[in-house]
Amino acid sequence: MLILGIETSCDETSVALVEDGHRLLANDVASQVRMHATFGGVVPELASRAHIQRLVPMIDDCLTREGLTLKDVDAIAVTLGPGLIGALLVGVETAKGLAFAAGKPLIPVHHVAGHLYSPFLRGEGDRHRLIVLESGGDTPDGQQLLVPGEVRQGDQQDAATQQVDLNFPYVGLVVSGGHSSLVLVHSPTHFEHLGETVDDAAGEAFDKLAKLLDLGYPGGPRVEKAAQGGNAQRFALPRPMLGRGNTGYDFSFSGLKTAALKLVKDLGGPEAVKADPQLLPDVCASFQEAVVEVLLKKAARAMEAAGIHHLAVVGGVACNGRLRSGVRDYLPAGITTVFPPPALCTDNAAMIAGLAFHHRDSFPGCDLQLNARADLPLSFPR
Ligand code: KG4
Ligand code: ZN
Repeated sequence: MLILGIETSCDETSVALVEDGHRLLANDVASQVRMHATFGGVVPELASRAHIQRLVPMIDDCLTREGLTLKDVDAIAVTLGPGLIGALLVGVETAKGLAFAAGKPLIPVHHVAGHLYSPFLRGEGDRHRLIVLESGGDTPDGQQLLVPGEVRQGDQQDAATQQVDLNFPYVGLVVSGGHSSLVLVHSPTHFEHLGETVDDAAGEAFDKLAKLLDLGYPGGPRVEKAAQGGNAQRFALPRPMLGRGNTGYDFSFSGLKTAALKLVKDLGGPEAVKADPQLLPDVCASFQEAVVEVLLKKAARAMEAAGIHHLAVVGGVACNGRLRSGVRDYLPAGITTVFPPPALCTDNAAMIAGLAFHHRDSFPGCDLQLNARADLPLSFPR
């Protein structure tokens, strides 16, 4: 069964073709990061406009490249939520139109459930295509046009962690710009929510530190790069919600952000930190270590309580090299940990098309009443 997936929940426009829930034929991602970088964060209105400009040409391009037309796909899957409502609407309404016109089933998918499914996708060769969109040129009515900048094929595979098979039930650690949660995953479509952030998400914390230090957007990769060669033990930053008496699975990163802010101030401010070749790496490494330790130790606790030995770390922050290597330091022996390759950690339509295969019986038709939902619960569609 060949499913065309569409993802537009935030600032990545993505289109993918996945066969039988696993085999990746294509995963095209148009990243808007350069456009939003000017503003230091995602501007929802610009994100929606860019999705409108890019989505249909990308669907066309993806199918044509594979020598296919809409007639050849068996269903169309789309992210229904959660996410930015204007951005989600572009994907959902486009998917509705295509499914209705082509007489295909329309399968709505939960974005976070998609991330949790990402370890099950298997590609052959170079199946990821990243288009970095740049703003440039104007239309006659003054609107900015987005033009593709660099187009990158392929993706660095993390062989050590990617070739491991995951057994159900497993604990899923979802860490992205919008989510930080621990979930017990019984099957691709059945979840038990264990805990989540009570304030900032892990990626958001990285983004805020980067903003404070003026390192650029998105912050996670910038902070990771700046942390290289730094001494992670130099500054003792708090490990929120890990202390004695805190037995739950919730996270909190806003206190850590405030502690980092105070540290930078005490060190003479952002300019002084950036001017010192050792201070910047040490601050960033100390911050990164605090986030990594909290995330992995909480995941370890959840696995111990549930008697589970399999962990999947998914979402944009799962790209982080220290989070990957931290598994050795913060998880007990005997745990199998899977990190998807980086192109499948950040937002992509392959995870949506892959998971949709498991919802095919629940959505045999094309429901034109479906509505994008900014706050869709993980229990959807139960
Ligand atoms: O999953 P994702 O692409 O979008 C959301 O659903 O939010 O995650 C984006 C987040 C951003 O906050 C970004 O800073 C973070 O993932 N991120 C990283 C790294 N790469 C991306 N955080 C830490 N280290 C990285 N290498
Ligand atoms: Zn995401």
